[in-house]
This record gives sequence, C-alpha cells and structure tokens, in this order.
Amino acid sequence: MQPPNFDNQGVRVNGGIGCAGCHQAPEFSIDPNSLNNGVIANANAPGTDLLVTRSPTLRDVVKVDGTSNGPFMHIGVSNNLTTVLNHYDAINLAGNNNIDPRLTPNGFGQQLNLTQAEKDAVIAFLRTLGGNDVYTNDKWSDPFIP
Ligand code: HEC
Repeated sequence: MQPPNFDNQGVRVNGGIGCAGCHQAPEFSIDPNSLNNGVIANANAPGTDLLVTRSPTLRDVVKVDGTSNGPFMHIGVSNNLTTVLNHYDAINLAGNNNIDPRLTPNGFGQQLNLTQAEKDAVIAFLRTLGGNDVYTNDKWSDPFIP
C-alpha cells in the first residue's frame, strides 16, 4: 500500500491513508514507537491524557458474525468504525504536544479527504480481519484492489 501524499497544508492529495504506518501488518499491531493518535480525552476524569500510544491489534475489531467489537480506543469513542475513520479524516492538534508526527504532515493535523468509497473500502477491509480467511487468501492483502 502507498503512503499518503499531502499538500503543504496537510491535506491529502493522493496515495493511501497511512493506517498501516502505525497498525503494522501482518497482525496490524501498533508500531512500538507510535505517539498518540489525537484521541486525548482522559478515560475517567476531565482533562487530557497525552500518553495513550498503544492499541490492540486491529484483528477482530469486527466479530466473525459482523457485529462490532467496540467501543474503540481508550475512551470508547464509538462502536462504529465510521466514527474512527472520521477521527483520522480530520486530526485536531489543539492541546496535544505528543501526537505522532505521521498524523501532522507539514505541521498540520492531517486532512485525509476520505471519499465515501474509500471509507467503505477500509471498513470492508477491517471486516476481513475477523476469522481465518485473511491469513491465506491474496485478495484480502489490499483494500483498494477492485
Ligand atoms: C500515528 C499512528 C497511527 C495511525 C497512522 C493510525 N492509528 Fe489507529 N490507533 C493508534 C493509536 C495510538 C491507537 C490507540 C488510541 C487510544 O486507545 O486512544 C489507535 C487505535 C485505533 C483503533 C481502535 C482499536 C481498539 O481496539 O480500540 C482503530 C479501529 C484504529 N486505530 C484504526 C485506524 C485506522 C483505520 C487508521 C487509518 C485511517 C489508523 N488507525 C491510523 C495509532 C495510529
């Protein structure tokens, strides 16, 4: 998969959408050197927590029966992968001095400019990460293969 390309204001112009830069294949486990991803609310109190830099594998974010295994992230942002994608689609830098630089092209919070077709493709891809077929079938190796 291609990395995303951004213009000088952090708006994606082409390329991939960068998820695998942090959630690394084959297990889509988090890069050990990741900083936070912009979800910085405190789980159990007001204020912020800039130190959540870990994520479980993205395998089985959707159960084999098709239902969500959310809520997602340390504050349980949502049960819904569209909400997750909308977060990465428009990264907010306010009050966050520990965000991973992969999400701040040219110093701006990334704007992925995701189309509905891209969101659908990524969610369809994530849905394949439940069960066993993904370990053996080539067609699941890239969300953008038609
Ligand atoms: C800069 C590294 C980075 C990038 C790039 C990134 N993520 Fe994440 N991701 C994280 C971190 C860190 C967390 C944990 C956040 C938390 O718990 O608050 C996370 C959490 C998640 C979760 C929740 C997992 C769970 O079980 O709760 C999902 C789903 C997810 N990311 C999907 C994506 C998708 C889809 C993309 C691409 C659009 C993406 N991520 C790009 C670092 C990244």
